[in-house]
Amino acid sequence: MEDLQTLQTELLDRIQGAGDLAALEEIRVATLGKKGRVSLMMRELGQMTPEEKKELGPRLNTLKTTLNAAIAARREALENALLNERLQSEKVDITLPTAPQPEGGIHPITQVIDEVTEIFTEMGFSVAEGPDIEEDFYNFTALNIPEEHPARQMHDTFYLPEDANGKRKVLRTHTSPVQIRTMMAGEPPFRIIAPGRTYRCDSDATHTPMFHQVEALLIDRNIHMGHLKWCIEEFARRFFEVGDIKIRFRPSYFPFTEPSAEVDIGCAFKGDEIAIGEGNDWLEIMGCGMVHPRVMENVGLDPNDYQGFAFGMGLDRIAMLKWGIPDLRDFFAADLRWLKHYGFTALDLPSLSTQGVK
Ligand code: DAH
Repeated sequence: MEDLQTLQTELLDRIQGAGDLAALEEIRVATLGKKGRVSLMMRELGQMTPEEKKELGPRLNTLKTTLNAAIAARREALENALLNERLQSEKVDITLPTAPQPEGGIHPITQVIDEVTEIFTEMGFSVAEGPDIEEDFYNFTALNIPEEHPARQMHDTFYLPEDANGKRKVLRTHTSPVQIRTMMAGEPPFRIIAPGRTYRCDSDATHTPMFHQVEALLIDRNIHMGHLKWCIEEFARRFFEVGDIKIRFRPSYFPFTEPSAEVDIGCAFKGDEIAIGEGNDWLEIMGCGMVHPRVMENVGLDPNDYQGFAFGMGLDRIAMLKWGIPDLRDFFAADLRWLKHYGFTALDLPSLSTQGVK
């Protein structure tokens, strides 16, 4: 019988030297296969004396175990090398664009309208609309702003040329005329919001001749200021995504509401930044109040029977606050770099539906 030590060294060398899995398999068959060298030697044990068997048997077994382990280790090494080679050669460059990226995005004003609409429709409001070119009656008179009323001057109105009847239409100065149109077109109860464009002859960092408002109107029986307050607080909490937002109702005056208030939210000015819901500063976000009895009468409703509240809010303004946009004029400058920076991707949902801030 061969010298087992020499044989082991020789076979281990060959196993180590196997260049691929096929070569390794060949060595395995030639060694431990049915007619392999070591298998044949084990078979020879049968013809040996018990003493020889006792001496050789365990040594052959150890040899077999050692070889099996060496083959398994070599197989693993070869398989790993093969895998690494494949990983290298089949590498996918995931930095390559898969398809041309869509151009364009959602303007922050559109996004803000979507978010505001989502919050109020969830509360049961529906969306109403009115024309941008409005009659004096809806924009002013029916809202309890008669001719010669000083509030008309406050609005810096754009007037259109007189028509054949000597009447001048206006670019609506607020979304409040949609209240009148809604109430004249239907029967109470009413629960609407009206987002849209509004116009005033004014321009600086916080005013543009065209801007956006959202109007809200709720008319029903037994409505009081508590309903208004809840509604606005709930809106502010959800829109600004701040759980315990500070809100202040400041007495104010609007011809179409009595009592009237302006709503401020708590904030902190930190250098150029504003943190909503913290600190000791206040920012005005809307005007509101209980619909004036004279407005109710103007649309043919009995104020003893029905009451309601209304508010009007600057959409550009709350967009600036929510996303920290410093200059209002940039909203309408059509600067692609600005739109890329502040715009939303087309698939962005209004953040509220995914957020669930309650
Ligand atoms: N129309 C007012 C404005 O543009 C805002 C406003 C205040 C609307 C109070 C309302 C309201 O509906 O009740 O300044």
